[in-house]
Order: sequence, then C-alpha cells, then structure tokens
Amino acid sequence: MKINYTIAFAILIAIGLVSFGFTYYQTQKERENLHHDIESRMDVFSLVIESEILKRDSADLNNTLDSLIQKFELNGIYIHNGTSNNSISKHLQRQDIPEDIMNWSMVADTVITYISDADTEEFIYVKSFKQADLSVNMIVLKVDYEYVNNIIRSIWYRNFWRWFLQALFVSAITLAIVHWRVHLPTRKIINWVKSAKTGDIEQLKQHKPAPFLEPLYKEIINITKSMHEAHLRAEEEARLREKGESIWTSERLKIETRNLLDGQLLVLVSNREPYMHIHEGRNIKCLVPASGMISAMEPILKSCGGLWIASGTGDADKETVDKNDKVRVPPEDPKYTLKRLWLTKEEEDHYYYGFSNEGLWPLCHIAHTRPVFRHQDWLYYKMVNEKFAESVLEEIKDESQPVVLIQDYHFALLPSLIKQKRPDARVAIFWHIPWPNAESFGICPWQNEILNGMLGADLIGFHTQFHCNNFMETVNRNIQSVVNWDNFSININKQSTFVKPFPISIDANTGNDKEIEIKTPDVLLKDYGLHAEKIGIGVDRIDYTKGLVEKFLAIERFFEKYPDYIGKFTFVQIGAPSRTLIKTYADVVSEVEKESERINWKFKRQNWKAILLLKKHHSHEEIQPFYQTAHVCMVTSLHDGMNLVAKEYVASKNDNSGVLILSRFAGASQDMKGALIVNPYDIESMADSLKKAIDMPIDEQFERMEIMNQQIQRYNIYQWAASLLRNLVQIRPR
Ligand code: G6P
Repeated sequence: MKINYTIAFAILIAIGLVSFGFTYYQTQKERENLHHDIESRMDVFSLVIESEILKRDSADLNNTLDSLIQKFELNGIYIHNGTSNNSISKHLQRQDIPEDIMNWSMVADTVITYISDADTEEFIYVKSFKQADLSVNMIVLKVDYEYVNNIIRSIWYRNFWRWFLQALFVSAITLAIVHWRVHLPTRKIINWVKSAKTGDIEQLKQHKPAPFLEPLYKEIINITKSMHEAHLRAEEEARLREKGESIWTSERLKIETRNLLDGQLLVLVSNREPYMHIHEGRNIKCLVPASGMISAMEPILKSCGGLWIASGTGDADKETVDKNDKVRVPPEDPKYTLKRLWLTKEEEDHYYYGFSNEGLWPLCHIAHTRPVFRHQDWLYYKMVNEKFAESVLEEIKDESQPVVLIQDYHFALLPSLIKQKRPDARVAIFWHIPWPNAESFGICPWQNEILNGMLGADLIGFHTQFHCNNFMETVNRNIQSVVNWDNFSININKQSTFVKPFPISIDANTGNDKEIEIKTPDVLLKDYGLHAEKIGIGVDRIDYTKGLVEKFLAIERFFEKYPDYIGKFTFVQIGAPSRTLIKTYADVVSEVEKESERINWKFKRQNWKAILLLKKHHSHEEIQPFYQTAHVCMVTSLHDGMNLVAKEYVASKNDNSGVLILSRFAGASQDMKGALIVNPYDIESMADSLKKAIDMPIDEQFERMEIMNQQIQRYNIYQWAASLLRNLVQIRPR
C-alpha cells in the first residue's frame, strides 16, 4: 500500500512541477501580450486625441472625451495642452500621477506605462510629445487593469484543474498497471514460494504465470521438484532407518562418487543420446528418447555430473551445441555435459542399423529372429568404435586415472581401444542386453574380436548371473585365457577382467508423487471415446523381442475364455516405434497394428475396445497416469536384459495396488518376486494369468507389491551405480 502512496505522490509532484513551470511561463507571456495589447490600444487612442481633440474647444472636448472614455473603456483621462497651458481631466487628477513620471515624460517625449497601484490595479499610460514651439503636450490615460489579472488568475485556475485531473488520471492508470503487472505477479510469486516451501507442485501448476514470469516459474518448479524429491527421500530414509536399513539416494551416491573418484572425471559413452533436439515448426524441442539404458543412466549423471558422449541424431542437435559439440543438460536444470559425435549416413546404416541391430541384437536375444552379419557392417562397426575411442581419449588426455563407463553392445571394441592408449584409465562396459549361450554366440563371424575388445575392460557387467556365466563360458571356449570361476575373472597375459552381475534398476522416487490424484479409467480413456471399468497397461518399444503379438493373442484368448470382461476391461498398449528402417522392425509395427485391429473387430462394442494401441513415443510424465490407474501391467518379452518398465510400474504404485505380469525371460523376473511370472509363448496360461491378475484380492495385491516395492527401493539405480563404481575403483588399474 505504501508503494501506491509513494507512486501517486511522485506523480503528483512530477506533473505539478511541470504544470507549474508551464503555467508560469504561459502567464508571463499572456501578461506581456495583454500589456502590449493595452499599450497598442492606447497608442491608437492617443493618436486620435492628439490629432483631433486638442484642436477643439473645451466644451466640445468634454463631450467628446465622455464618449471616448466609454468607447475605449477608460477609467480616466488627463490631457495637458502645452501651447495653451490648459489641462482637461476626467476621473484622473494631476496629483494622481506621480511627479517624477510627469517630469520624466515632459523631458523624454516618450510613452511611459505603469500600474498605478496594487489595490486598484489600474494601468496608467503617459504620452508626451513636444510641439514646434517646444511646449509639451501630454496625454495620460487610466485603464482598468483588473481584467488582465483576471485572465492570469483564470489561467492559473484552469491549469490547476488540468494538473489535478491529469495527476489523478495518470496516477490511477499507473496504479492499475502497478497492481496488474507488479502486485498480482508478486502475490503469485509469494504463493509459488509458499507452495514451493510445502512442495506442492500441483498447486504450483494450477497458477500459470504471466508470459514474462515463465522463466521464473520454471525455476521455481525445478526448485520445488528438487525439494520435494529430497523431502520424499528424507522421509523414505527415515522410514528405513527406523527399520535399521538405509537406502541409496542421489545425494548419497554423490558423496560416494566423490570419495570413490577423488576428483577424477567420469565419462559415460553410449550410442543413444539422453537428450535429442528436434525441429517442431519454428521451434526446437528437446526429447528424451525411449530407451531403458537412458532411464537407468540419466539419474547417475544428474547426481554425479561428468561427461556423456553419444551420437547426435536429432535434426536440431547441431544447432544446440557449442563449438566443441557440447551442451549442458538437462535443459531445464543443467547437471552434466553431453558431447555429441556426428555419424555419417553410411556409418549409421552399417554400424547402428547393420551390425548392432541386425547382427548383435538378434544374436544376443533369443527371439528367433535370425541375425544378419555383413562384412561391410562389421568394418563400419570397427570404424565407429575407433571414432568414439578417439573422442574419449581426447577428453581424458589431461586426466589421470579417469573412469570410463561404456554402455551396451554398440561398443564392444571400445574398452580395448581405450586401454591400449590409456592403461591407467578405469574402464567398465555394461552389457544391457542378454548374453546368449556359447553355441548361439558362436555363429558370429567376429566373435573373437568382440570378446577381445570387451576384455580390454577392467569390469564387464551384465544384468544377471546367468548372462555372466554365458559370457565366461563363451570366453572359455574361444579365447586363450585363464577363466577363474571362483572369483569370476578372466586373465590374459597377467591382466584381469572381472565379470559381475549388476541388476539395473530405476530411481524409485521419480514421478512417484504421493499426493497425485489417481485418475479413473474413464477419465484416462475419455480422449479416445472409450469406457472401461479397469485397464491394463503395457509400455514397450515396438520390437520383436518384446512379445507384443504374443501379448495380444493372450488378451484375445482371455476375452474368449472370460467373455464377462468384454466391455469392462481394456488393455492400453503404449508402443514407441523404433529402428523402423530395419525391415523386421517395420514388419513388427504393421503386425502389431493388424493384430490389435483384428482383435478389436472380433470383440467390437460401442465405446469400448479390447486393445487401445497408442503408437507413439510417450514421455515419462505421459506414461505415469497410465501406470497409476492400471490394474495390471503386462511385460511379455521373449527375451530381455532386465526390462525397467516392470520396475517403473511397481514404483508408481504408492498404495501397493495392482498386479505385475512378467515374462520369465526378462532379467527383471529374477528381482520381482511378487510378479505373476509367465511364459510368453504359452498363450493359454498368459490368458489365465491375466484373469488371475484382474480378480486378485486386494490383500494379495498388496503383499506382492510390497515385496517388489521394497526390492526396488533398496536396489535402486543409485545403489546400482555405487556398486558398479566401487567394484571398478577397487580393481587396480593395469
Ligand atoms: C533398449 C535396450 C538398451 C539399448 C537400447 C537401444 O532399451 O535395453 O540396452 O541401449 O534399447 O535403443 P535404440 O533405440 O538406441 O536402438
């Protein structure tokens, strides 16, 4: 309120000073003009008198003067004829005229004007002119001067009101603007800060800011999220401390990493980048690609900082990096650096689509899709691995004992390429996909090069012990080495590589907002014009390893066997198309579409569908409501390293309701003991498991979910990263 008074007062003074200055100037000018006006009038008058009146006789002159006084609105007149030494006066006596003026005018033969006195406010005009005989005629005129003062007064008066109204008007407009642009936004900011303090993100989201406050709003949202997450973690920690346990958090990992790395740089290498910039109309949008590897690794870099090297694939990626091809991410709250490497079309074709995804991917996943090995693909695979090695070596050239975490099957050769040049570096490769048995892997024409490349690492990680065993066995059969089954290490030329399982997990608290209102199935399905009492959810990249067709066949069988659920249960399948330039992937997209359409047609009902296929990439935030509402989640991979969707679904269930149906061929089935484990090739029993899940009593749901939730809380991604780093650092560098 105080500020309002100050603003109004300042406006009043400012406009007042300007108005006063102008009015003063205006009145001075006006007075001069009026003065001048009177003088001109009197000049004319005196000329008339001079030429006419002085020639007439006295009686005649008297009458003429009376009429002239009236006509020229004079208050008085005094005329002195020097020749006859006569004087005529009307309402003005000789003694009214100050003597010195009289004398001066007689001598000076000029015009003198002055204001007679302040009370009567009369203007006296004295004009004398010498005649030929040197006598002096004099005309003295007295004019009312009050009208001049009245005009000046009225100018002041008018300008006063003008000032007052202007000041009032300007103050009112200014105060309205201040209210609208300052007070209201300030109040909003205060409310945001209050909501931020209590971690109330929903409340924050309800009050959308004015456009100019958008950046501040984003900052506050970020602060709130961080505070809220910290709060949830603290609560969780406190809860577990009470039980004598302790969980891993981002904070704890940060401290642990600081101790372990002791200032050494952490470099992460993956093919897929964690943030991708794309053009959308005139704008540039930042996307998080659909990848289990990214969901797992992002929280680690966010918490520890460091450098992530990946290939840039977004069409706006080049526009968003600096001259070193680097960009700080996440965009809204930068925590680490992403360095993008640019691959040519040929490199992408042969290294990524060819050798990685048509060769190694089907080779490692036993999903009955035949791997394709082309010599050219292999050559490009080697070249791209060398390209990444160069980039890593450049980044670590000034670091002693840097830590390099290599991700996945795209970089089997990278560990040895780095180690050859930098034996002091600590290198780990984590293989996010399964490792098949030695016979299966043996069909790869370059298996030895791949194994030797990987064995350059100090540590090789897989999701499960089973995959470690397969790897050890593959090395045992093909590489001249000492394979130690007692400590799971492989020695070649006195150099050791340790092989260990690190079952990857998630940040169990991401998106796990306890205060979020869970939507009903109808609310979620409304946008699609559908209605159902319960929904199931599946979230997968559209990939032949994910068992999508098998899942749909099981859903079909379920409705055939249990028709009571027709119209009541809908399965929502979120499917992100991926690697669609590969024919087998394009085929699987159309097969999945065709199957869902066929099944929907078979059970067609008004406002209801058996399967709702949402064929596009969904962000984590978009998926959360589906997870939270879904009564059942189906993960039916034919073969999978881990599968984090299973863990994300469980983590989203704060109330421990819901059921997870999980393929026994996904690594997650080793950890998720409360799930209904299925064989995705057995359609009949999957249909029965779906029925069991939908009808499962709430107590049983709770028991099963509780077991899985505890597992995810304790073995989360921070625990995973800490254990991988600790193992790596404890291994002496070569
Ligand atoms: C899945 C696998 C990851 C792999 C990723 C690659 O998420 O589990 O191990 O890195 O696919 O996907 P992309 O789309 O990059 O080929």
